[in-house]
Amino acid sequence: MTTDTPNPDANPGGDPPATGEPPGVSKPWRDEAPDPKRTAKIAQQAKQLAKQRVDDDQDKAALEQPREFVDATGRAVAIGVDVGGSGIKAAAVDLDTGELLSPRHRVPTPQPSAPAAVIASIARMIKKIQAEVTIADDVPVGVGFPAVVIDGVTKSAANVDPGWVDFDADTALERVLRRPVHLVNDADAAGVAEMRFGAGVGQQGTVFLITLGTGTGSALFYDGMLVPNLELGHMEIRGRDAERRSAAAARLKRGISWKAWAMDLDEHLLAIEKLFSPRLFIIGGGVSKRSERFIPRLTVRAAVVPAKLLNDAGIVGAAMAAAETERRRAS
Ligand code: BGC
Repeated sequence: MTTDTPNPDANPGGDPPATGEPPGVSKPWRDEAPDPKRTAKIAQQAKQLAKQRVDDDQDKAALEQPREFVDATGRAVAIGVDVGGSGIKAAAVDLDTGELLSPRHRVPTPQPSAPAAVIASIARMIKKIQAEVTIADDVPVGVGFPAVVIDGVTKSAANVDPGWVDFDADTALERVLRRPVHLVNDADAAGVAEMRFGAGVGQQGTVFLITLGTGTGSALFYDGMLVPNLELGHMEIRGRDAERRSAAAARLKRGISWKAWAMDLDEHLLAIEKLFSPRLFIIGGGVSKRSERFIPRLTVRAAVVPAKLLNDAGIVGAAMAAAETERRRAS
C-alpha cells in the first residue's frame, strides 16, 4: 500500500487517500475504522468454514480408508474356501501378504455335491479355522466355486450337482456361517491371487490364468483388471467341450501320457490365443507342480509359466475377492 501524502484537491469528498489509482477513484473501505461486531462475525464465519472443511476432509478420509477385517493380532484377514470337483480347501488368509494364517484344511467334495452337503462341509471347516485363529465376526468368507457366479448366485454346474444352477449361494451360506459370504468363480479367484501375489505381478496387457483340475477354468485380465466368468473350458474343440481333453482330470481319465495330454492342452491354448492374443498364460491347479512335464511341449506364441501360489491360489483369491466386495459395499 502506498504511503504518499494525499492531495486534498484530488480528494474533495474527504474520502480515504487514493493509493496510486487515477484521481477520483477511491476505496472507502480501506481505511475505515474496523467495526468490531462485523469483524467478530467474519472471524466466526471463517472459523465455521475452516471447521466444515476439516469435517469434510475427515469424512473423505474415512471413506477412502479401506475397511480392514482383522484377526486378534491386527492383521488384515479373510477366510478363503476353494470348492473343486474332488476336494474343498479352506484357510484364513493374510490379505496383505497372501500367506495362510491357519492350517490349510482339505476334505473330499461330497458326492453327490448337492448344495446342502457342500455347505455343511464348508461350515465344518470354517468352525475349525475359527478355533485356530481369532477373527472378528464380520470377517468375510470368500468361496471360489467351479461355476459362473453372478451376484452370489451360481448359474452353471458343469462338474458339480445340478442343484447349484440358479442357487443363491451367498444367502444360503450366510445363513449357516453367520458371516458375510461371497462366491466367485474358482478360476477368477485363483487369477486374482496370482495377479496380486504370484506369477502375474506387474504383468500388463492381456493375461490368462488357466486352471487345470476336474475342469478347465479360465480368467482373463487386461492391465490387471479381471473380466469375470469367462468359461473357455467350454469352448468347442473337435465338437466337444475343450476341457474334456485339456483338464488335468482328462489325462488321468483317458490314461494318456504327459506328452499326449500336452498336445491336447496345446490345441486348447492355441484356440484361445487365436481369439485373444494374450501375452502370457499362467497355468494353475494341482498340475502346475508338474509343469516341467508339459509346459516345454507347448507351442503357443505367448509366454507360459506355472502359477506361483500353486494350489493355494484359489483359497487366497477367494478371500481377497470377498474382502474387496465387503469394502465396496461399506463405502
Ligand atoms: C467350470 C468353470 C470352472 C472350471 C474349473 C469348468 O467346468 O464350468 O466354471 O472355472 O471348470 O473348475
